[in-house]
Amino acid sequence: MDKFLINGGKALNGEVHISGAKNAAVAILPAALLVNGKCVIENVPDISDVDSIIKMMVSLGADIKKTDCNTVVIDATSLNEWRAEPELALKMRASYYLMGALIGRFHKASVPPPGGCNFGTRPIDQHLKSFECLGCTIKCDDTFVNIDASLLSGGNVYFDVVSVGATINAILASVLAPGKTVLENCAKEPHVVDLANFLNSAGAKIVGAGTDVIKIHGVEKLNGVTYSIIPDQIEAGTYMAAAIATRGNVLIKNIIPKHLDCITSKFIEMGVSVEEYDEEIRVIADKPLKSIRIKTLPYPGFPTDLQPQMVALLSTINGKSTVTEGVWESRFQYIEELEKTGVRVSVDGNVATIEGGVPLKPASLRATDLRAGASMIIAALASEGTSEIYELRHIDRGYEHILDKLRGLGADIQRRDD
Ligand code: EPZ
Repeated sequence: MDKFLINGGKALNGEVHISGAKNAAVAILPAALLVNGKCVIENVPDISDVDSIIKMMVSLGADIKKTDCNTVVIDATSLNEWRAEPELALKMRASYYLMGALIGRFHKASVPPPGGCNFGTRPIDQHLKSFECLGCTIKCDDTFVNIDASLLSGGNVYFDVVSVGATINAILASVLAPGKTVLENCAKEPHVVDLANFLNSAGAKIVGAGTDVIKIHGVEKLNGVTYSIIPDQIEAGTYMAAAIATRGNVLIKNIIPKHLDCITSKFIEMGVSVEEYDEEIRVIADKPLKSIRIKTLPYPGFPTDLQPQMVALLSTINGKSTVTEGVWESRFQYIEELEKTGVRVSVDGNVATIEGGVPLKPASLRATDLRAGASMIIAALASEGTSEIYELRHIDRGYEHILDKLRGLGADIQRRDD
């Protein structure tokens, strides 16, 4: 089993290039199934979640080639299957985007309920609600969610909760649906906007992405385009947290600073020096840092996908900090593992209280999910001595070339096959 060996206690210094956004890529790639013709998607992160979604699309009959590790050419003209392979779909949550894409393309879909990280129940009731508002009928058996969209037409959807996945799935299902669709109480994440921009460049008529209300006028067809995916705000925030936890000085390159406003404002509150440029941000942790309070919320609030990384970072800062998880019902399971490094965190419901400042110690750690794995890496980088991190498959899902990127910042890290 692969593991990282990290000899921590060294400040990270230098610069790191941020890759394309995982959560944009896993939405835009299936969206290309709606397009009559060839799409060239650039700046796709070289991660296993992308490999998984490509495998699922190929199993449906799409013709897909990678012309380099970050460019995917998709021709879905010969798509012939509307039933997703269960063993492939169960590997990741984003497989549910095949529902919206297949509804739009074939007016029917059979896709297993999603896999993915396990922080509490991960329902898809809002996805299914939006499909029903668009005229679909849904029957679930013990393997598939079976969707009949023979009467697909535009409709009005008011989401009970702000959901990235449901917002994206409703866009996918409605772009080719006859008539007008109005989505309200939508997610506003950058990757929702990126998907809408991709579809509009292919000829869709979507207005309002990035706001609470998105309006879609169905079109007859979409044409092949070349499109470049936005940089990953969560990858960027992860490297910023690692730089600060080791008291380093790092330039984060190839980003859209606006997407990181909610993150940089918390680092500034902590006492970190932040220098913002057009497509770069430098973080310098050269002064004593202070404990803070964080609450994760849908965008433009502080992102839940940085919550585990922040708990590790706050453990290195003197004083009492709190992190409130405002998106997922339970996303603190990783803390039991993290406590092996000596972090002092107590959890009460959706609030974690961190007593920071006690030096972290090296440990043998298991990545329990993608972002928890990032949290373990940060704790290991901040601990004097050699730590081991196992279950790297979780980390490989969402962090492109993380070993090289950390080495490029001076980290003493190796990957070993045990
Ligand atoms: C996306 O998951 C991301 N995944 C998650 O990132 C991220 O944590 C989450 O959005 C929130 O930003 C992808 O984009 C592939 P939601 P998603 O629907 O769409 C409830 C990562 O690390 N809900 O916005 O599944 C749900 O229980 C991953 O990259 C319903 O109640 O999240 C949660 O409490 C982890 N019913 C809240 O809404 C539904 O039908 C937000 O979930 C759907 C969601």
